[in-house]
Amino acid sequence: MQNPLENSSSNPFEIAAEAAAAIARLTGVANHDIALTLGSGWAKAADLIGETVATVPATDIPGFSAPAVAGHVASIRSIKLPNGKFALVLGARTHFYEGHGVRRVVHGVRTAAATGAKTMILTNGAGGIKETWKPGTPVLISDHINLTASSPLEGATFVDLTDLYSSRLRAVAREVDATLDDGVYCQFRGPHYETPAEVQMAKHIGGHIVGMSTALEAIAARESGMEILGLSLITNLAAGIQKEPLSHAEVLQAGKDAEVRISALLAQIIAKI
Ligand code: HPA
Repeated sequence: MQNPLENSSSNPFEIAAEAAAAIARLTGVANHDIALTLGSGWAKAADLIGETVATVPATDIPGFSAPAVAGHVASIRSIKLPNGKFALVLGARTHFYEGHGVRRVVHGVRTAAATGAKTMILTNGAGGIKETWKPGTPVLISDHINLTASSPLEGATFVDLTDLYSSRLRAVAREVDATLDDGVYCQFRGPHYETPAEVQMAKHIGGHIVGMSTALEAIAARESGMEILGLSLITNLAAGIQKEPLSHAEVLQAGKDAEVRISALLAQIIAKI
């Protein structure tokens, strides 16, 4: 069956509203307060932040489909936080490089907004440009450079992206760990990793982190009025900064090695939001 978001005459916000209604029905939670997309290395956070009320296969929700990358869990979880609020955990991210169109990429974020979430936490595994960042270092995203030549906004929709990655939420994260560094995230299309020359370009235009997600999602989250916290796990130094070639296996392993530590960090941050 074709995904309804790929039908150009459909309305992505209506499909997000249908998805939110399905989530409310299947989880028994009418509204969520905060939403998280857990990228490589961050998945364990879902177990640490509170009590899971329901886990739903993403494929049961309108507009979602199975993820392309092994290691990404295709489920949507509703979690009751110790403070009584509800968190929606999106385990199934659709990447721009999958070629299904940007509507599919941001459907999770729009659905989260439609469930009532006012805060969007976007996490990812990414390459680091700063040589001092060892693999396994979590970094706050302070801003982004969108190198995908795409946008989730359709038509003449002019949205301000100043303070896109909330300075207030970054300060909250630093109350938990004052040593957290931050950096500008450059989203490339992928799925190939960058060339060393592209990494140098990213560095020269002000980037510190390279990855294949998050920027488009952040734009959609802002359009929907959510406050955004972005966190990258540096799984490797970017191409040419590290001398060895990059491998997906290395990226996944770095995520596994750091998972317990960074998930605990994220859980502590969420407790303060
Ligand atoms: N580049 C882009 N995406 C990534 C990287 C990288 O070096 N590492 C993990 N995701």
